[in-house]
Amino acid sequence: MFDHIAHRYDLMNTVMTFGQHQNLRRAAARLAQPPRNGLALDLATGTGDFGAALREVEPTCRVVGVDFALEMMGVGRVKYDGSITFAAGDMLQLPISSSQFDCTVNGFVLRNVTDVRQAFAEMYRVLKSGGRAVSLEITSPRTPVWRSIFGLYFDHAMPRIGGWLSGDAEAYRYLPQSVHAFLAPEQVAELMRAVGFRDVAVRRVMLGTMAVYVGTK
Ligand SMILES: C[S@@+](CC[C@H](N)C(=O)[O-])C[C@H]1O[C@@H](n2cnc3c(N)ncnc32)[C@H](O)[C@@H]1O
Repeated sequence: MFDHIAHRYDLMNTVMTFGQHQNLRRAAARLAQPPRNGLALDLATGTGDFGAALREVEPTCRVVGVDFALEMMGVGRVKYDGSITFAAGDMLQLPISSSQFDCTVNGFVLRNVTDVRQAFAEMYRVLKSGGRAVSLEITSPRTPVWRSIFGLYFDHAMPRIGGWLSGDAEAYRYLPQSVHAFLAPEQVAELMRAVGFRDVAVRRVMLGTMAVYVGTK
């Protein structure tokens, strides 16, 4: 699905977030605290924007981006060639030995994986002791009135706009469905703790439509 929409993916992110998606990734990247000359991992990197945000926060940091959608990474390579190392892989079974990375980030992927706990277990495994994991994911607003108003856009208007701009209406119908089917933020935080993360925190941002999860190994 992501390979099919790869060439319109960035445009759709800009439209859907009213141009805010890179600011959001930058703020989340700061929470990952990439160290000088450190090594960072962007899981499910797609077109590489979260990895690039890490480099904006700490330009001396080396970033590896992993995804299994080759077309998505192809778009990323054109944008960020030389500054991010792209590698094919499944984030549920990373082809990486343990305790290698100073920090790891992932954006808009948790609701797409078949096993969220395993995703966190892999992040924990490849992090060095003291390293931070930061995840960014869409969530439903808590306030009922705002949830209904946001739903008019997210559940109804956005799939139409997405279908029109990307040529893949199904992909943008799947997006709100996957958000509604996903775990509540507190349940996600619980899974992080269950695999060993400490100091787990959840922040709701963008008027409660996004959640940022942070944990330390
Ligand atoms: C919504 S895109 C997010 C891309 C990017 N992280 C961003 O911030 O824009 C979801 C990405 O997750 C990738 N993905 C989903 N499951 C994956 C897995 N098990 N291993 C690696 N990548 C995965 C998809 O191929 C897709 O590129």
